[in-house]
Amino acid sequence: MYLMDWYSSLRLAGDSFSAARAPRASFESGAASVSDWGAPAIKATAIAKSFGGSLVLDAIDLAVRPGEILALIGPSGCGKSTLLNILSGLLSPDAGELVIDGTPARQFDDWRRVAYMFQEDRLLPWRTVRDNVAFGLESARLPLAERRRRAADALSLVGLEAVADAWPHELSGGMRSRVALARSLAVRPTLLLMDEPFSRLDPETRSQMHDEVLRIHAGSGMTVVFVTHDMEEAVVLADRIVRLVPRPGRIAEEVDLDDLPRPRIPTDADVAERVRQLRVRS
Ligand SMILES: Nc1ncnc2c1ncn2[C@@H]1O[C@H](COP(=O)(O)OP(=O)(O)OP(=O)(O)O)[C@@H](O)[C@H]1O
Ligand SMILES: [Mg+2]
Repeated sequence: MYLMDWYSSLRLAGDSFSAARAPRASFESGAASVSDWGAPAIKATAIAKSFGGSLVLDAIDLAVRPGEILALIGPSGCGKSTLLNILSGLLSPDAGELVIDGTPARQFDDWRRVAYMFQEDRLLPWRTVRDNVAFGLESARLPLAERRRRAADALSLVGLEAVADAWPHELSGGMRSRVALARSLAVRPTLLLMDEPFSRLDPETRSQMHDEVLRIHAGSGMTVVFVTHDMEEAVVLADRIVRLVPRPGRIAEEVDLDDLPRPRIPTDADVAERVRQLRVRS
């Protein structure tokens, strides 16, 4: 799904995250098999990666459909970040094939459409909020006016226009997280990768960020792959959860959450039960 007018569709989505489903008409049945998807946004086949002779990821087969929100879970050291680094193009697999939007990753030349949000917000302390958000656009060879416009749009998406001229040290943890999200969104990605992005936030702020991500996702149709240790976060956000096991990192299980209605309130019985089941199996 390519979004010719990303921000217009976001505006159409408005603020109602209860309507938070991406425009993915062909997938709405929930019963779609991989072969019904059309071209997956990501198709990883038999991916393997070693560090210093030790096999970290092995035989990873993963298909992510366009517009899907996928959570990667698993114990520390099982290779979640390594897999995300491979999906982002930061790291090459030793074996296997990665296809992004129908193009083999080694030929894929538009990594700007892939945004990566790390666990730490990585804001530059000597830049204002606005200039932090614009940072990711500097390599995009866009005219200055366009960079400014996109940065302003991204800040408005996360509700931070009022602090555009503030410095990172003046912001709360939640606001910093929003700036990091805006910086990722400024490149107008079709694929957003997030590695434990909200793990350092207090529960209330984390929950606000979940609403934010779902609202923005609903309007953009972005594909989202995120790593979390928080089962509640996985169940609230994801369409599907993939659990990795360690030594070497392999996919142990996929949990489809298509049947769980949205919005997903953690205190609702069916949501809490899915979280409990995941915790028991982890
Ligand atoms: N650049 C690297 N060089 C050497 N070893 C690495 C490198 N990156 C990761 N590893 C090793 O690969 C394994 C998987 O690491 P990775 O960071 O992917 O795990 P993870 O599932 O993200 O863990 P966590 O939940 O703690 O973040 C670990 O044993 C780690 O030490
Ligand atoms: Mg990690």
